[in-house]
Amino acid sequence: MMRALIVNPGKKTLRLAERPPPRPPRNTEALLRILDVGICGTDREIASFEYGTPPAGAEDFVLGHEALGEVMAVGPDVTSLQVGDLVVPTVRRPCSNPRCPACRVGRQDFCTTNEFSERGIVRADGYLAEQVLEEERYLVPVPAALRDVGVLVEPLSVVSKAAEEYSVIHTRFAFEAPKSRGLVLGAGAIGLLGAMSLRASGFETYVFSREPEDTPRAALIGSLGCHYVSSARTAVERLRERIGAMDMIFEAVGVPEVAWGALPALAANGIYALTGVPALGEPVLGDQRRWMRDIVLNNQLIFGTVNAGRSAYEQSVFRLEQFLALFPGQLRELIRRVPLDEAPEIIANGRGIKDVVTFAH
Ligand code: BGC
Ligand code: ZN
Repeated sequence: MMRALIVNPGKKTLRLAERPPPRPPRNTEALLRILDVGICGTDREIASFEYGTPPAGAEDFVLGHEALGEVMAVGPDVTSLQVGDLVVPTVRRPCSNPRCPACRVGRQDFCTTNEFSERGIVRADGYLAEQVLEEERYLVPVPAALRDVGVLVEPLSVVSKAAEEYSVIHTRFAFEAPKSRGLVLGAGAIGLLGAMSLRASGFETYVFSREPEDTPRAALIGSLGCHYVSSARTAVERLRERIGAMDMIFEAVGVPEVAWGALPALAANGIYALTGVPALGEPVLGDQRRWMRDIVLNNQLIFGTVNAGRSAYEQSVFRLEQFLALFPGQLRELIRRVPLDEAPEIIANGRGIKDVVTFAH
């Protein structure tokens, strides 16, 4: 038997339990030994039974979607992986609708039917288990040098997909458009990885979040070469007065008042990426007249992005190598490891910037 963290949405339980290990790999499958699994807001929502769906016919499922594993065994038809390789499994699996144009070409991150599954989130078991069986095509190789930080590939893939979308959108400028000033909303793991990405691509980067300006989080942001602005001192609506107009905004906070409140800080021709998923609730009122006027009169473009395709995972591997060279201490500072026994506790009361459940062997 193997140990796994199981969530039962019907009974509202989250517990460590024994599960039979996967069978040996066949054909193009690989068997993974899980090394690290990151915890994020999505896991916390699932663990408080607000989100998450078991596979068809099951009442519970294995939690966890941000994994780093090591290949233990491969099926006879696997060509790109060997025993001992490090890999990150992608999260989303295609829907089966023959008319979904996205899933039919392997871009399930753009699924049009909503019938996709996501490992550890909707309709599929996740990775908080000692061993996992997976198809070769859903495994992204990670160099051994990234062993300590490879668990960040999945959260970074969200940033990389936004960057891919940004690059495509940016080609709309038939002139030399500025790509110089960027604002990140939120200083959680995604926000900080977004800030590192903007810095690494040469943006003058600002981060806006709620921690006061004399906290370790603010110091970490400063050490990346970013400017930190705390909502404790500057209201979101005042951002433009304080720091000027931004050519790009990357939202990673999931709070509509902050997301829309920052709109006046977007420059003419600005591009705005939304990644946060707010909980549903009462409608939030805002200055719709002003927003519409400003967006139109300034040729602004706002886009949402979720999940990531394989190319964004591969980009994230390169980006992590770059971050390890540029910001080695800061990258490691994001991660705080706990053993599997402490997983339920750490999911309930997060402690690090990126809490990581590690399977000690
Ligand atoms: C995951 C994505 C997923 C999204 C919605 C996020 O936490 O990183 O892969 O698509 O949740 O379920
Ligand atoms: Zn996540």
